[in-house]
Amino acid sequence: MRVLSFLIALVALLTGVYKYFDSRLEQFYIFDPAHLHNLSQRAIAAHGNDTRSIVNYIVAELDEKVGATHLNKEEEWVFNNAGGAMGAMYIIHASITEYLIIFGTAIGTEGHTGRHTADDYFNILTGTQLAYVPGSYEPEVYPPGSVHHLHRGDVKQYKMDSSCFALEYARGWIPPMLFFGYADTFSSTLDFPTLWDTSRITGREMIANALKGKF
Ligand SMILES: *[C@@H]1O[C@H](CO)[C@@H](O)[C@H](O)[C@H]1NC(C)=O
Ligand SMILES: *[C@@H]1O[C@H](CO)[C@@H](O)[C@H](O)[C@H]1NC(C)=O
Repeated sequence: MRVLSFLIALVALLTGVYKYFDSRLEQFYIFDPAHLHNLSQRAIAAHGNDTRSIVNYIVAELDEKVGATHLNKEEEWVFNNAGGAMGAMYIIHASITEYLIIFGTAIGTEGHTGRHTADDYFNILTGTQLAYVPGSYEPEVYPPGSVHHLHRGDVKQYKMDSSCFALEYARGWIPPMLFFGYADTFSSTLDFPTLWDTSRITGREMIANALKGKF
């Protein structure tokens, strides 16, 4: 009985803590979806379909505006398998409440978006992304310069027919998303060196940011 009361008290406490921080997530954010969209559009206007130059343009401006301490300027590309889709990513920023990455593939992919505890803003830089929700008979089409906003908790099927790269910004609770990001390693790829690199980079960035007071 004592154990039960203790558990109930603990759950109540954790629920309270969660609710407290969940309603205040906003104050932890350092990126702005409208600015990232505007920045992506300007990078595309300046560099067309030259993805490498678009990425350099974006990182250079963020470095100036957001500050070097929060950004990873080394392009450490790692494969990412999640929801049956495969691509690669370059982690620009990772903290408890936000991540910003370049995600894409030069040959196309398709899969399940995952159901996430964060809002996801997928700014298409080059190529086109398609998305599908059950009940619809038409695809959602996202060309370069558009944003595919996947709301927290929503889920879709998505596809990139051929080469497609995006600036992906997620804000909300990031750690629970990592389970989705890792699941395919255990059920399918068994690519543990990639899992290690992803964990090492994500962990290093999250800790570096936390030590600077960015959670
Ligand atoms: C980006 O924002 C600036 C300042 O608000 C605005 O002048 C410009 O037109 C915007 N560019 C794009 C491509 O939306
Ligand atoms: C990029 O655009 C140029 C000029 O419009 C075109 O010649 C080239 O084939 C394009 N490259 C890709 C990968 O789409």
